[in-house]
Amino acid sequence: MSKRFEGKVVIVTGGARGIGLATAQAFAQEGASVAVCDLAEDLAASAAAGLASEYGVRALGAACDVADEAQVDAFVSRVIAECGGLDILVNNAGITRDNLLFKMSVADWDLVMGVHLRGTFLCTRAAQRHMVEKRFGKIVNMSSTSALGNRGQANYSSAKAGLQAFTRTAAIELGPYNINVNAVAPGFVDTEMTRQTALRRGIDPEEYMKMRAKNISLGRVGVPRDIANVVTFLCSEEASFVSGQIIYVKGGPETVR
Ligand code: NAI
Repeated sequence: MSKRFEGKVVIVTGGARGIGLATAQAFAQEGASVAVCDLAEDLAASAAAGLASEYGVRALGAACDVADEAQVDAFVSRVIAECGGLDILVNNAGITRDNLLFKMSVADWDLVMGVHLRGTFLCTRAAQRHMVEKRFGKIVNMSSTSALGNRGQANYSSAKAGLQAFTRTAAIELGPYNINVNAVAPGFVDTEMTRQTALRRGIDPEEYMKMRAKNISLGRVGVPRDIANVVTFLCSEEASFVSGQIIYVKGGPETVR
């Protein structure tokens, strides 16, 4: 495989597992230096160690809560100092706190908004300072098919819809500085997040995957690499005229959520 990202420095938030880890691996496989942050220092560090040993690239793993302004600014500055710059930011960190609207607590509303919307804003603001100076950057935000509305996810679907507006606005503001900003909106992907949802509903995760696959045209649920492949495309030279777009990656045209 060609090494499309040799010499590039990438940050993936929430990169210790799931879609974030698969994205970090996809960039590392194509030669990028990769920095992953996550809530737990040890998980981020072991993800980075795995990237370095498997792909022979420079990899950095650190604890950083994307909803915390000081932590985000410190993490982004550290990556720029230790890796020699920052070319690509993937705002992937995410959580769910599902509940029907009438039972949803203010704390769960704020938490989900904080990680997805505030987190993406803080990381993008920190990264663009460097990208604007360099007149180069690629930013991909992780939205979701839930942005179209999903029972039990008033907080999450609102945050994911908000990210689409944020993506388009950032693309308008940063385009003049040669920075592309896009979003990927995955459908159902087999990760710890969706397996935990199954367990919360009292369903065996394997059964849940089969159930969800029935509603997907291609007859299977997504795997993290399906999403990572689109993220890397959006950050590649081939996609240099694509900006402000929301790419749905969900195995078919139906609304699956
Ligand atoms: P996951 O739960 O497996 O991984 C998310 C990672 O983000 C975890 O390692 C977690 O510790 C980290 N994280 C959570 N809060 C954080 C914070 N405040 N600061 C830093 N890191 C934090 O989830 P998955 O499935 O890999 O999801 C990744 C992204 O894709 C999320 O934004 C999610 O909303 C989105 N997504 C996932 C879908 C799915 O079906 N799995 C579908 C559509 C979107």
